[in-house]
Amino acid sequence: MTTVAIIPAAGSGKRMQGGLSKQYLPVDGKMILLHTLSVFELSPDIDEIVLVAPEEDIPMIRQMIVEHRGMSKVRHVMAGGKQRQDSVRNGLAAVENQADIVLIHDAVRPFISENLIRLTVQEAEKHGAVAVGMPVKDTIKRVDPGGWIVETLNRQVLWMTQTPQAFKRSVIQEAYRRADEDQFYGTDDASLVERMGFRVKMIAASYANIKITTPEDLLMAEFLIKRQKRGNVS
Ligand code: C5P
Repeated sequence: MTTVAIIPAAGSGKRMQGGLSKQYLPVDGKMILLHTLSVFELSPDIDEIVLVAPEEDIPMIRQMIVEHRGMSKVRHVMAGGKQRQDSVRNGLAAVENQADIVLIHDAVRPFISENLIRLTVQEAEKHGAVAVGMPVKDTIKRVDPGGWIVETLNRQVLWMTQTPQAFKRSVIQEAYRRADEDQFYGTDDASLVERMGFRVKMIAASYANIKITTPEDLLMAEFLIKRQKRGNVS
């Protein structure tokens, strides 16, 4: 069984103050991207990593991550696209046919654990398509462009979706092919599989598996890493 991890890291720093892309910001003195890559490098369930980076940063990334830090599983560094989905599509193009499972994980979620990677891969083998997430804590409302509440959704059935998401290679490749054909853009990879009518299994991850998006997330990340260092499992 061969499992390839695609790590999209080609986002820009739009929502973060200072403008530096989030994946390059330090947490506990180490680049977020390196935190994330290290977990995959050490995971016995991952055979290869396809990293997707901004085109202009590829020489720097190759130099720094692949050579200097000994990330031996990083086989390809691909150029990203305009949207995340474009970046993942470019990553998928580098996945070879012998891969059985493709796992996709945002570079800006450094609190991924080896255990969660293992569980996600195992469930993907069983079900063909898996997303991880957690039940929502807040009440979620649909609001119109004028700011008026249209609907209150039933919280009991709502989950916040995270990454990793993992799929049999043929399933995710077909989902991307069809999305391209229909010019469909989703906000995660599972949604492309769902729209084919293929059932996607949701598994519980952790509230600590945060995506670093805003300056507040960086503060939370510094706190979580200290907690991790003290030995509390997140
Ligand atoms: O901010 P967003 O949710 O889009 O970012 C999720 C992940 O997707 C990040 O790791 C980011 O670097 C990546 N991304 C990408 N290409 C884009 C946009 C985001 O690889 N065009």
